[in-house]
Parts: sequence; structure tokens; C-alpha cells
Amino acid sequence: MEHIVLSGIKPTGQLQLGNYIGALRNFSKYQDENKVFIFIADLHALTLPIDPEVLYNNTRDIIAFYLACGLDPNKATIFLQSQVPAHAELGTILGNFAYMGEMSRMTQFKEKSSKLNEKSIGLGLFTYPVLMAADILLYNAETVPVGEDQKQHVELCRDLALRFNHRYGDIFTIPTPVISKVGARIMSLSDPTKKMSKSEPKGDIFLKDDLAVIRKKIMSAVTDMGSEVKYDKENKPGISNLLTIYSCLKDITIEEAEKEFVSYRYGDFKKAVADVVCDTIGRLQEKYNEILASGIIDEVIAKGAIEASKIANETVSRVKKAVGLYGTK
Ligand code: TYM
Repeated sequence: MEHIVLSGIKPTGQLQLGNYIGALRNFSKYQDENKVFIFIADLHALTLPIDPEVLYNNTRDIIAFYLACGLDPNKATIFLQSQVPAHAELGTILGNFAYMGEMSRMTQFKEKSSKLNEKSIGLGLFTYPVLMAADILLYNAETVPVGEDQKQHVELCRDLALRFNHRYGDIFTIPTPVISKVGARIMSLSDPTKKMSKSEPKGDIFLKDDLAVIRKKIMSAVTDMGSEVKYDKENKPGISNLLTIYSCLKDITIEEAEKEFVSYRYGDFKKAVADVVCDTIGRLQEKYNEILASGIIDEVIAKGAIEASKIANETVSRVKKAVGLYGTK
């Protein structure tokens, strides 16, 4: 059965391996049999200070990586959030249905705001999940493939949609987050108790890193005192993370990966992980370079904005009518 699938990435930094394993590599799997919307959450990138040129370049890079990962603009709608004003409109309306209490409980908000001076926490950072809910609800998305750290935001979106529907009737489709069993939380190589993240360059593998640098990062990844290559998240977080990366990129189970490395030392195991990571990222980089050279990016973005706006505007119109504002249709 055809589903409506939607997901996005925030262009706040360079894409890292966690983004690829937890989200990006899954997107194109849906495009043959579903209606797929994949976008760049560029308005969300403004929630923390960012250099305009960096934001612009990150945005182009992510579009290029979307295509390099096999997303086809003729099958999926690929677009920029800021080019579809309906996101901001629905975000404003939905903000009235979100409560301060539930917003204050969002883990990402707590994490990000704890690093800031209380007086300089932007409102956008606080209301971030409301805009994210608008992103999802505008396209009537049923399936939202994300990494583990976004689950709470998709659940808030469900709550907002149910709350709104309860009051105004059947306006929104209720989305479901889809999170892979393995690989939904890739950890930092330098501190495997922390998530790999675009904004924490230490211990991260970036999709644009030089392959020699990637190899070096993996060979110097933090492991533990033991010698067995075994999955044990509690006692062997570093080895478990590397096993997760290996099994995801090889498309095998963790158990199968463990069997491959039964008699391996850590050094040889790391070499095998580095080989598969470099092979995967090397191929992606080749395609990424071809795409940038082809000059197709602007065309993809323009096509996506038209396609996305059509559906998003219909939803906003439906919502406006429901609440008593003048809809356009
Ligand atoms: P963002 O840009 O932080 O991350 C993009 C996607 O990558 C996943 N991810 C990871 N997966 C596994 N291991 C990791 N270490 C890792 N780090 C990141 C994220 O879970 C995400 O799926 N709020 C979103 C962007 C967004 C969005 C949306 C997503 C805005 N509106 C609507 C889905 C639907 C974000 O900041 O993702």
C-alpha cells in the first residue's frame, strides 16, 4: 500500500555518519512504492547562531548528498522548508495548541539550552518542535523515518495533531515515527557514551572528510580494556558502536558481524570497519562531486518547491477554514 513518507535534515553543519546510517540511507528505499517528501529544515537551522554562508553551503551540500544517496527528484519531492511559506503559517497556528510544559520537557531543548546563557535562549529554539510538527502535518505524512533523537519530537507532533483533531474534526493525519532497530543512535568515536552529532566535530566522521582522515579517526576510536569483539553496550560501548556501524553498512545483523570477528584483535577489527566506512563514503563522495559538477541543484530545489507548495497550501487552507480563518479554497 502506498504511504506518505516524510523526513528532513537540518543544515546546521556537515553531515556525519550518524545522519547517514540513522536517516539518509533509508530515504531512497521508500521512493518506488510511496509518496516521498524529503526536505531541508533550513528555517530550523536559524534556531542557533549560524554564519549565512555556512548555512547556504550546507544546504546545497545536503541536497547533493540526498541525490548521491539515490533520491530521485522524479520520484520524490525534494525541497527547502523556507521556500514553502506554509511551514511558517502552520507553525504559527499550531503554536497555539502546544503547551509550555510539554515544550519545556523536550530533551533536545533541555540539552541545547543548557549550553546557553538563560538570557540568550532564542524563542525559536523553544518552539522548534512546533515547526517540526507543521513540517510533518502539512504533507499528511504517515511514516516519518528518523534517528532515535527525533522520536520525542514526532511523538509531540502526534499529540498536537490529536489535540487539534479532537477540537476541529478529522483535519490531520496522525504520523508514526519509524526508527531502525540498529543504527538509530550512532555514537561518537572519541566518547562512545555520547551521540555523534553535526555540532560536535570531535570523534565524528563527516561525509566530506578525506578518506585518510576517516581511516585515522576509526583506527584511533576509543575502545575498552578487553580483547573480545562482542556487542555489549554497557561494558563495551566503543566496540558496540563500531559493530553497529559495520553491520549497518554491510547490511548484516550484529550477530553475523560478531561471528566474522570472533578471533580478531581490536586493531584488525578496526581496520575492517575503516574499510567498509571508506568504501561507502568514498562512493558517496564520487557521486556527490558528479552532482555538484552537473549543476542540477537549483533545478531540483525549484521543482521541489512547486510540488511541495501545492500540497502544503491545501493543508493550510483546510486548517484555516477549520479554525474560522478565511481559507483560500
Ligand atoms: P538532524 O538534522 O539533527 O538529523 C537528521 C537525521 O539524522 C538522525 N541522526 C542520527 N541517527 C543516528 N545516529 C546519530 N548519531 C544521529 N544524529 C542524527 C536524526 O535522528 C535525523 O533523523 N529536527 C530534525 C529535522 C527535522 C525533521 C522534520 C525530521 C525538521 N523537521 C520533520 C523529520 C520530520 C533534525 O534536527 O534532524
